[in-house]
Amino acid sequence: MTVGIMGLGYVGLPLALSFAESGERVVGVDLNARRVAQLRRGESYVEDVPSACLRALAPRIEATTRIAKLAICDAVVICVPTPLTPNHEPDLAPLMSAVHGVAGVLQPGQLVVLESTIYPGMTRERVRPVLEESGLVAGEDFHLAFSPARIDPGRSDYTLRATPKLIGGLTPACGDRAETLYADVCEKVVRVSSPEVAEMAKLLESTFRSVNMALVNELAVLADRMAIDIYEVVDAAATKPFGFMRFDPGPGMGGQSVPVDPFYVSWKGRELEFATEFIELAGKVNQQTPYVCVERIERALNELGLPARSSRVCLLGVAYKSGVGDTRESAAISIARRLQEHGAVVSYHDPHVPELPSLGLVSTPLDEAIRGCDLAVIVTAHPSVDHLAVSRQVPVVDLRGATRASRAVARPPVRTAPAGQIAPRPAEAA
Ligand SMILES: NC(=O)c1ccc[n+]([C@@H]2O[C@H](COP(=O)([O-])OP(=O)(O)OC[C@H]3O[C@@H](n4cnc5c(N)ncnc54)[C@H](O)[C@@H]3O)[C@@H](O)[C@H]2O)c1
Repeated sequence: MTVGIMGLGYVGLPLALSFAESGERVVGVDLNARRVAQLRRGESYVEDVPSACLRALAPRIEATTRIAKLAICDAVVICVPTPLTPNHEPDLAPLMSAVHGVAGVLQPGQLVVLESTIYPGMTRERVRPVLEESGLVAGEDFHLAFSPARIDPGRSDYTLRATPKLIGGLTPACGDRAETLYADVCEKVVRVSSPEVAEMAKLLESTFRSVNMALVNELAVLADRMAIDIYEVVDAAATKPFGFMRFDPGPGMGGQSVPVDPFYVSWKGRELEFATEFIELAGKVNQQTPYVCVERIERALNELGLPARSSRVCLLGVAYKSGVGDTRESAAISIARRLQEHGAVVSYHDPHVPELPSLGLVSTPLDEAIRGCDLAVIVTAHPSVDHLAVSRQVPVVDLRGATRASRAVARPPVRTAPAGQIAPRPAEAA
């Protein structure tokens, strides 16, 4: 089999590698010539893909900017970005550009799968007609399915292979083709009756996290006002073995899914004159959370007798979650920008993020960063940084509960799933 992957980012590159590991030939297409050149040199830019693996599988992976190469593929999987516009509406331009590209080279008998997150109905309403401009008919001359990406970058337990893969085919035959494709790289494939069910299931997954993050972050503000340790509250609630799922407070949501996907649902709802009030409310709380963090930081400076203006504030961790270098939608960017607007001298240390061009900053070595600041703020707790040691050297605002071990609070026992069930996820960082 030859598998074409369009978009070689956090989703597409690990997928390309998985197919190559299973012995398939892969044609990876990306518009970004710099990324393609890096891949050809065997250099990975995605944490979950070691360069050594890339080099070992190089004979089976062809990275190119030429869409025409997809014509030789049995299946084409589209993994391009689906971000938001500045007004928080779906920005479908990259996806539609990719779909037009695929339509231009579509061959009879090919399977086209969308992994990019989209609104319910888009595969059928928007993607299918463009592909059919090729003169080929979906479900007859070519197959079409939606199968959402469910990756969690930096995670080693639920890999692509170990995470059940949802598939919604346009027709039963389309679903059959997609199931055969993914059975190659996933242990479990879950068929649903239509692309719409799979599209909406993905949005439900992201929205579930967004709503729960908003809930715990809102309670964190109240707990702070009442001088109650919210982390101890969450620890306590998490001892209940049923009916509760742990989400930890944090500086606000980030990444490519949780801050973005719920807006795809509310946008579609508006078209149907339906207000998704739960989603809007969660979005509002989540967007406010970095502002609340800035208030906490300025309060801490005040307690040190310092104004925000001219104070030296060092952010520890600017990626949106620990262990990765992805800064998209990261709360740290918003916090840093607000602090800069208030006149603070902001620096940061992040072993995964060498520079933040949008803020004109580069990562400072940890020792130097600590020596040169009035206050350190733990925004993202990367495991490689000893936050307890930092808190002994400099005043710290801890937005992740990373220094709590010093308080000798009893941790609840780790829950494990009975045989045959999926183990509970570790704490969700909000
Ligand atoms: N990153 C995640 O954790 C995650 C998780 C689940 C779902 N998703 C979804 O998966 C999709 C891809 O996300 P990602 O994080 O991999 O994005 P990414 O930005 O890491 O990678 C996308 C790649 O697509 C390329 N690209 C853009 N337009 C293209 C085009 N027209 N043709 C070919 N290549 C093109 C870009 O250059 C980039 O390399 C999005 O819809 C996202 O919402 C992402």
